[in-house]
Amino acid sequence: MSRPVAVIGAGTMGSGIAQLAALAGERVLLYDVEPNRSATALENIKGFLDKMIKKGQISVHAAKATGNRIQLISSMAALQEAGLVIEAIVENLEIKKELFQILDAQSSPETILATNTSSLSVTAIAAACKHPERVIGTHFFNPAPLMSLVEVIPGLRTRPATVGTVIHRLQQWKKSPVAVKDTPGFIVNRVARPYYSESIRLFEEGIATVETIDAAMQAAGFPLGPFLLMDYIGNDINYAVTENMFNAYYGEPRYRPSITQLRLVEAGRLGRKSGHGFYPYPQDDLPQPDPDPAIRKRIVDRITTMLVNEAADAWYFGIAGASGIDEAMQSGARYPIRLLYQCVKNGVDHFIRQLEEWQHFYGEDRYRVSPGLRMIGEKLENFYTEKPRL
Ligand code: NAI
Repeated sequence: MSRPVAVIGAGTMGSGIAQLAALAGERVLLYDVEPNRSATALENIKGFLDKMIKKGQISVHAAKATGNRIQLISSMAALQEAGLVIEAIVENLEIKKELFQILDAQSSPETILATNTSSLSVTAIAAACKHPERVIGTHFFNPAPLMSLVEVIPGLRTRPATVGTVIHRLQQWKKSPVAVKDTPGFIVNRVARPYYSESIRLFEEGIATVETIDAAMQAAGFPLGPFLLMDYIGNDINYAVTENMFNAYYGEPRYRPSITQLRLVEAGRLGRKSGHGFYPYPQDDLPQPDPDPAIRKRIVDRITTMLVNEAADAWYFGIAGASGIDEAMQSGARYPIRLLYQCVKNGVDHFIRQLEEWQHFYGEDRYRVSPGLRMIGEKLENFYTEKPRL
């Protein structure tokens, strides 16, 4: 019987990861510094399994066996048994480093230690360990049991074989792992930035209302308009991620946060959770404006071009392979288009022309053409199938 998976932190992400691992047949050890959090997590998981029974997705027997595979542990001493430890505690570098020091000491030397961090450096977390070569990032998306993407992030000192082992294990769990270089925002949080920032920019310029921009993007197949999505994520969280990216990339103008969104945060208009964001809530119906086709095209072109430029930049700087970037944006953010494959299909001239026009008009570096986009134009055929260089 294979060694169990330990999950540390039984909040939103930890309980989801415990659930999906148990459903995949793993024995799971679940730990939280607050013992009642892990007990509540197990109750919630059992409730979810009951729903699966009612929907005919799982038998009563299999659901019971799945629940029984999750064991709550109250001490790190139990980690000796684990073959893989996944950390999903609070997003704070010092606290995570303290924990990894303990994990390093309490687990056996060949145990893989994974962090679910969404924004911290895996390399920095691993530096707390005597054996950083076994530390890796596994960035699951919320809700973990349903979202197939997992960004797999080797730190600078991670052993290459560990990457392969973790990818294989995640595939056995029916996940879609994509290997990513240890850089701020990894793939999804980086490539998605223009979806938010360029939408706010269009609104600030008075080119369209939030309702019109949302309607245009939804009509283009994006599951949620950018403003509805920011309200859903929480403007405080979304603003903080953008601000972190801006600082982490030393003031890169493409990631500059917006004063419009900062004002919303200052006013407590955080989105759904506070009852008001860009929109007031509850709001049962999605906005239904039917924008003029020319405006709609302008909105979709502007946001999509910025997304393609960002994706090309991530490819150029070796954050991940081109197909990995597309796959991540489709399975992690449910984008309706493969951003980089579009370049193979339709060429890049149109994107380059638009960006040059905007850079000239606004005089801002934010619109500069990524060297990646120019290079894709020169080697359209094989860039898509190249192996990533992490
Ligand atoms: P959460 O606040 O729901 O859960 C964190 C849990 O960790 C709490 O139950 C807390 O009691 C426990 N905890 C705190 N310090 C601990 C320690 N030293 N030892 C053991 N348990 C400890 O947080 P959430 O949302 O589940 O996030 C966890 C991690 O996953 C963070 O790093 C976050 O950035 C990342 N993440 C979160 C996503 C989300 O949508 N919530 C998506 C992807 C990653």
